[in-house]
Amino acid sequence: MEIKIQQGDIRGAAADAIIINLFADVSKPAGGTGAVDAALDGAIQEVIESGDITGKLGETLVLYPRGVIPAKRIIIVGLGSRDGLNLESVREAAGAAIKQARDVGAQDVATIVHGAGIGGLTVEGASQAVVEGSLLALYEYDAPKTINKGDGKAVETLTLLEFDAMKIDQIEAGAADGEATAEGVYLARTLINQPSNVATPSAIANAAVKMSRSVGIQATAHDEKWMREQKMELLLSVTQGAREQAKFIVMEHKPKGAKNRQPIVLVGKGVAFDTGGYSLKPSASMVGMHGDMGGAAAVIGAMNAIGRMGLPLYVIGVVPTVENVVSATAYKPNDVFVAKNGVSVEIISTDAEGRLILADALCYADTLEPQAVINLATLTGGKMVALGHRTQALFCNDDDLCAGLISAGAESGEPLWRMPLDSAYDRQLKSLSADIKNTGGRMASSVTAARFLAHFVGDWPWAHIDIAGGEKWGNTADETDRSYLTKGGTGVMVRSLVEYVRRLA
Ligand code: BES
Ligand code: MN
Ligand code: ZN
Repeated sequence: MEIKIQQGDIRGAAADAIIINLFADVSKPAGGTGAVDAALDGAIQEVIESGDITGKLGETLVLYPRGVIPAKRIIIVGLGSRDGLNLESVREAAGAAIKQARDVGAQDVATIVHGAGIGGLTVEGASQAVVEGSLLALYEYDAPKTINKGDGKAVETLTLLEFDAMKIDQIEAGAADGEATAEGVYLARTLINQPSNVATPSAIANAAVKMSRSVGIQATAHDEKWMREQKMELLLSVTQGAREQAKFIVMEHKPKGAKNRQPIVLVGKGVAFDTGGYSLKPSASMVGMHGDMGGAAAVIGAMNAIGRMGLPLYVIGVVPTVENVVSATAYKPNDVFVAKNGVSVEIISTDAEGRLILADALCYADTLEPQAVINLATLTGGKMVALGHRTQALFCNDDDLCAGLISAGAESGEPLWRMPLDSAYDRQLKSLSADIKNTGGRMASSVTAARFLAHFVGDWPWAHIDIAGGEKWGNTADETDRSYLTKGGTGVMVRSLVEYVRRLA
């Protein structure tokens, strides 16, 4: 879908559909909605009075103006209460409205910029939220299907119409950021949705390199020989049973005039498929494990957006990617391996593989002399037991980094909750044959996983975000569903990471 910005009057738009909004607690339509209502001689006021639309967030109603104004249809979307207006409600409303437009077959759609300049929202922020919500709601995974394909309906252009010429520059800037961010989320969703026979470690690496080229980021996909030179025994142990070659992807965004000398490093778990290895997963739990690279997808997607937006910060994305499978050469319980930083690890479960590949990646991050390191991973089932899909688990050794991430997450509609990272939990990781073992038992398993990672963290601010379940947030058709989240991978944390980095700039 193409996004256009135009100065003009929504009443005059000759589109297949125009989108206007309605607050829940406002009895008389105002702004663009009021103007359209006046042109229609009070038709909107009438449907409000009849109770056919209340302005509840995400509610939609289609009206047919029958030639009174040039547009073929009017879509009214609820914005919720005026006091509760925030960027998330703008994204939600925009997503609901554009889906309604698509479902009625509109190809050329015009919208007002919901919330621009009201309720403490900036024009730029509102514009970005409208574009983000609209694009994300229309994402579709291009599956190789011959039957049950979709109905082929698609919105071709969305024009953001603004009456006030003074606001156009800000609307353009916000829309560009919204498009860049949505591009990153699209890439993340697609990588997650692709099965592991398509999104192999090599394919993930190729996608990351191709994306990097397109936005002007330097990228390299290192091979296993390089990993051996780097002494990454933990990473290599996970891949030793696989026929697919492991890849270690490094994406470097180093713009001229970057505001920081030391890089922000983003690290993502890229397990292309997690069978559990010899500690084999039960069949039902194995389904969906092609999404065990949701952390990698978040990092690649965030780098895409950061590169596209040209944020003036030095940021490096690091993605170790492997397949965790069973074979005669696969690693086994009780095997002992030594990480890049010299810490020895006894394998208790070959299903606790994510922390192993992240451990060597964190040691690598240390060599980059980072300003801060943020790693993302679909790391533990325990995270889902603790917090479910809606909220992501944040483990952090630095209060400022923690506060910054929580606030960027809240702004993005991707809530994070801080979890304990107390070294007292280390007793659950004691091993007879090595410094530590790779599992800490059933109790607080997401915390002991984080404590495991802490053994590979240097003297820098570090955050670990466990997004298990979250990468497939949209799969749960419950109250956490959002108009702009689609089935399958959601690309969770791409937007929060971009927002976090943007605020630093
Ligand atoms: N990839 C899984 C975690 C996971 C489970 C993500 C379900 C998404 C949905 C991870 O590699 C894993 O298997 N973790 C184990 C660790 C345990 C063996 C210590 C877990 O949490 O059960
Ligand atoms: Mn596992
Ligand atoms: Zn895993």
